[in-house]
Amino acid sequence: MRQRLAFALGYLRNPRHVGAIAPASRALAQAILAEVLRNDAQVLIEVGAGTGAITRALMPALDRLDRFLVIERDPGFARMLSAHFPELEVLNCCASSVDQLPLDASAPVTLVSSLPLLSMPKAEVQKCVSAMLSLMTHRPGSKLIQYTYAAPHLRPFANIPYGWRWRRVVSIWANLPPATVWSLEQTPRGASIVH
Ligand SMILES: C[S@@+](CC[C@H](N)C(=O)[O-])C[C@H]1O[C@@H](n2cnc3c(N)ncnc32)[C@H](O)[C@@H]1O
Repeated sequence: MRQRLAFALGYLRNPRHVGAIAPASRALAQAILAEVLRNDAQVLIEVGAGTGAITRALMPALDRLDRFLVIERDPGFARMLSAHFPELEVLNCCASSVDQLPLDASAPVTLVSSLPLLSMPKAEVQKCVSAMLSLMTHRPGSKLIQYTYAAPHLRPFANIPYGWRWRRVVSIWANLPPATVWSLEQTPRGASIVH
């Protein structure tokens, strides 16, 4: 209940940056956890964590991680995340600086993004996407898990680097609004590339 209220206040502060009317549902958060666990990456970075609905679901992955960083641009949400998850590295900054983080130079990273790419200002989307791509392309074996509220066939963004592809993971119709989870990952050797 407190989480919903905090989310609604965040939405009123900045509707284009929050981009949804309710925190992620348990079903959506669990689908993202399952996708995170498919990977061996020991660094997990969640961007746009909001009230922490997905962060909380990702906690079972903590045991197998070296680092779990959380990036949130809204200072109110960032304070709440720091208070609720003292064991995580919560950074109150823009996702466009994700490629500047002091990380092991080549260790693969799993990025989980709740960024509302369709409602955020275009220039900001461009900066955030390019920082996430730069981080991943320098670390083979990395992937980006991004969910959208758009029609399930619409990929989160275009112009992905050669050798990468979008894989549609699942659509969660019970989420408010319904959401589709996507994974941006390197094309397996020999497979054809569909952008
Ligand atoms: C859809 S909401 C997050 C939902 C979250 N999973 C939850 O259930 O509470 C998107 C979040 O992204 C954050 N955000 C938007 N633009 C951002 C940016 N450029 N960098 C970091 N966070 C950003 C917003 O402040 C908001 O908390």
